[in-house]
Amino acid sequence: MTTILGIETSCDETALALIETRSSDNGKLECRVIDSLVHSQAELHSAYGGVYPNLAKREHGKNIIPLLHKLLEGAGMDKSPERALPEAGTAESEGHLNDGAREGDLSIPALEQFRTEVSGQNPELWQAITHADFLRHKPKIDAIAVTEGPGLEPALWVGIECARMLGALWQIPIIPIDHMEGHIIGSLLPSDVARGAWQEFHDAPLPAIALLVSGGHTELVRVDALGKYEVIGSTKDDAVGEAYDKTARLLGLPYPGGPHIAELAAQAIAEGIEPPLKLPRPMIASKDLDFSFSGLKTAVLYAVRGAPKDADGRLDPSWAKGLAREFQSAVIETLLSKLRDAIEETGARSIILGGGVSANSALRHELEELARGHAVPIFMPSRHISGDNALMIAMAAAFGTAAHATKAPGEIRAQGTKRLGQS
Ligand code: KG4
Ligand code: ZN
Repeated sequence: MTTILGIETSCDETALALIETRSSDNGKLECRVIDSLVHSQAELHSAYGGVYPNLAKREHGKNIIPLLHKLLEGAGMDKSPERALPEAGTAESEGHLNDGAREGDLSIPALEQFRTEVSGQNPELWQAITHADFLRHKPKIDAIAVTEGPGLEPALWVGIECARMLGALWQIPIIPIDHMEGHIIGSLLPSDVARGAWQEFHDAPLPAIALLVSGGHTELVRVDALGKYEVIGSTKDDAVGEAYDKTARLLGLPYPGGPHIAELAAQAIAEGIEPPLKLPRPMIASKDLDFSFSGLKTAVLYAVRGAPKDADGRLDPSWAKGLAREFQSAVIETLLSKLRDAIEETGARSIILGGGVSANSALRHELEELARGHAVPIFMPSRHISGDNALMIAMAAAFGTAAHATKAPGEIRAQGTKRLGQS
């Protein structure tokens, strides 16, 4: 049995998870979720209408160690007597105190090699880790999985530095994971219930087509095996989630806007409000599998400019609902059309949906219909893990796929623009 700690800090969620894995009698990988915690910074970033990389970095640095404490405490692992690390102030650790040490630093010898880099680059993280008394005891964890990209580099670095320090402290390996592979594998877990039963992953018939839709990505990925991926279509400009967020902003809704637009669209349908105008279905007729959503956003901008408003300049609520309905239809029709082409082109035998936008009920519903029409199964993430989470990162590591380059901890770097299938 192997216990894996997952770390995910690629955007504005600080996320940690613990899983146990084992091989079943018939050689299948089984997983048990010990716990999965997500600390969202969305409220903080909402004032800016988007994610500020350096603010995200600082917040991750402040929050990741307290979140780790909560995770280990909840799992009963915070005081495991397996191996106590040297006490601060003992002969063993004293020789490592240097002028840069702050009062109260634990001065754990294994962390000294990180002092200059981490205290300089990320003082919040350094401060938190050197004051984390609970880290003196090595928990029963066998490996750490951490997101190396794609994502916001300053944010990714926090998870990577944290993984490196914990790896050195506990003397365990670090497995770098692609965030998008996480979104694929996350959809193959039947249940994300913490402290639940042992479960086998869904066996998606291959080749599969993964539709990955998030705030930063819109991709069609051909999956020939877990670990063998090829991006066969992607967005040329804005991602779907980004288009939702920008449209929401134009309608005066808070960030992240996806759920708000989805809610307005559902209200429009329930109240029989028709779209006030027709929006474009971008690139729907193009021969390739690529997407483009920036034109849709521009069309919304012009529509909002000419829309009926009250004396204070506020949009007419019915108009806004109708527009949200039309926007969502344009997005879903475009996604479905390209997915259909991708299935035909690759002879896909199953569909995998992943990424934050997969929380959208209308999209899920339409995709289920499409899968039924093509007589292929569809795998979608359970609701708690449709957004960014570390459970999917730990699970991707558990598969130990060929996509996981073995790297020395010092070689793991934040790769902001990492593309699935390329190392
Ligand atoms: O995967 P994710 O959590 O983070 C990234 O890696 O980007 O995706 C976040 C995106 C945001 O753009 C958010 O607005 C969108 O997912 N989103 C939704 C819904 N819930 C979240 N978009 C449409 N409908 C939803 N219900
Ligand atoms: Zn994501």
